[in-house]
Amino acid sequence: MRPRIVAGNWKMNTTRETARQLAQEVAQGATAGVTVVVCPPYPYLEAVGTVLKGSSVALGAQDCHYQEKGAYTGSVSPAMLADMCCAYVLVGHSERRHGLQEGEGLLQFKVAAAIKAGLTAVLCVGETLEEREAKRIEQVLARHVSSGLAALSADKMGRLVIAYEPVWAIGTGKVATPEQAQEAHAFIRGHLRTIVGHAVADATPILYGGSVTGDNAANLFAQPDIDGGLIGGASLKPTDFLKIVAAAKR
Ligand code: 13P
Repeated sequence: MRPRIVAGNWKMNTTRETARQLAQEVAQGATAGVTVVVCPPYPYLEAVGTVLKGSSVALGAQDCHYQEKGAYTGSVSPAMLADMCCAYVLVGHSERRHGLQEGEGLLQFKVAAAIKAGLTAVLCVGETLEEREAKRIEQVLARHVSSGLAALSADKMGRLVIAYEPVWAIGTGKVATPEQAQEAHAFIRGHLRTIVGHAVADATPILYGGSVTGDNAANLFAQPDIDGGLIGGASLKPTDFLKIVAAAKR
């Protein structure tokens, strides 16, 4: 059975103190049977990691470089994240794909480098509203998944999570309906089967992200191919986030 995962992407929010408090509340309220991950901004990884020590909540980062080290000003390597006790890292979030023009050629190397460093990579994929309206959803998802996995061998897939985050649903309050999300997740899983085979595809967690709240999470997580969520805004509110976590329990 695939694990249930709920990850909070704090984006460029919190202060060191509010990050510590938020981590504390999440650690105290986590639900057994659900893998909970929080992804604070880089500067607070250590402070949050200290709070989470001894708890069941895992630490994640929001991005990484694809090189192990070197002259890459402003970048953080996967090895550094592992050294900070991170277990997860997001790769290819739409705010980086679209906002910072990170291309598919780059993302496949980030995924491979993250896994090589011992992290679990959360590869984010998803169509824009324009692509949805042009009925290009499957084409876009197939491309995002294929290119993201291009530098990865099948034996590394145990350290890959996919997050379907339709760009039009991120931070807009326009959550995908459970049917829309399930359709996309089923397509992604089917596409994965053609790349890595049935067993591996069926074992790969696929999370939904985009305007998930404590009120809509349960209906989304009830869908057969939705294995949890990647949460933005609601992950900054402990009560709401913990309600989402509880909704992910089988
Ligand atoms: P919201 O939950 O704020 O829509 O953000 C989703 C997201 O981008 C998580 O990575």
